[in-house]
Amino acid sequence: MSYLQNKFNVKKITTLRLQEMKQAGKKIAALTSYDALTAKIFDDAGIELLLVGDSLGNVVQGLETTIPVTLDQVIYHTKAVVNGARRAMIVADMPFMTFQISDEDAFYNAGRLMKEGGAEAVKMEGGRSIAPKIKMMTESGIPVMGHLGLTPQSIHKFGSYRARGTTPDEAERIMEDALILQDAGVFAIVLEKIPAELGKKVSDSLSAPTIGIGAGPHCDGQILVYTDMLGITTDFSPRFVRRYARLHEVITESISHYLEDVKNGEFPNLDESY
Ligand code: KIV
Repeated sequence: MSYLQNKFNVKKITTLRLQEMKQAGKKIAALTSYDALTAKIFDDAGIELLLVGDSLGNVVQGLETTIPVTLDQVIYHTKAVVNGARRAMIVADMPFMTFQISDEDAFYNAGRLMKEGGAEAVKMEGGRSIAPKIKMMTESGIPVMGHLGLTPQSIHKFGSYRARGTTPDEAERIMEDALILQDAGVFAIVLEKIPAELGKKVSDSLSAPTIGIGAGPHCDGQILVYTDMLGITTDFSPRFVRRYARLHEVITESISHYLEDVKNGEFPNLDESY
């Protein structure tokens, strides 16, 4: 199998590679990223997919919801991530109201994420109602990642961030939506905050890889918001987040030392001066 070889002479992760990984039973590791610095660190460490999520509204902008995030903001952050990454596939989120209004609008905005942002694919939240748009895009060469289960852009419709697919009706609808999105041509689907059993059922039923966040261990891959898993955020701790580091503590301690040294005149010393 031949893969896209980029200017770094690195074999890029592509939609094809992700599908092969699913077939081979190899798990896909994904993280969010919003800048070149973290994109480079995560890419060098071997992360296969970087999502420029509209979670940048929460993480970077300090917003309560992702609703106000704009297409221009996602384009700006996608450019930065593209500059930092070499191998990982870069997926950019389509923010709220950038794909709902009309087919033309959705098409044009997805094109901007790819042409101006440099994204290799876009992600859209929603089920059967957006399938025609997904079909149109994938047929035109825009790879689309679906997003089912908890869809944070619909927070004001549902009124809570509770788990989805917890009733038989809801679970059946998510299962059906996953098959409809696959038929429409998605190359992968994010499954957010659904029961592990449903995550397994969807993953087993699709040829497209599923990327879970709070969707149990049977998904074909996992994604987390990087500030949560590195323990930079401390005020958000749902069950599905595993903290691999406590960077908030490390940063706070370092800043305290710096502050002390500056106040005491101990920084800089002569070796650190010209
Ligand atoms: O915006 C985002 O970061 C996401 C992930 C949580 C999947 O959609």
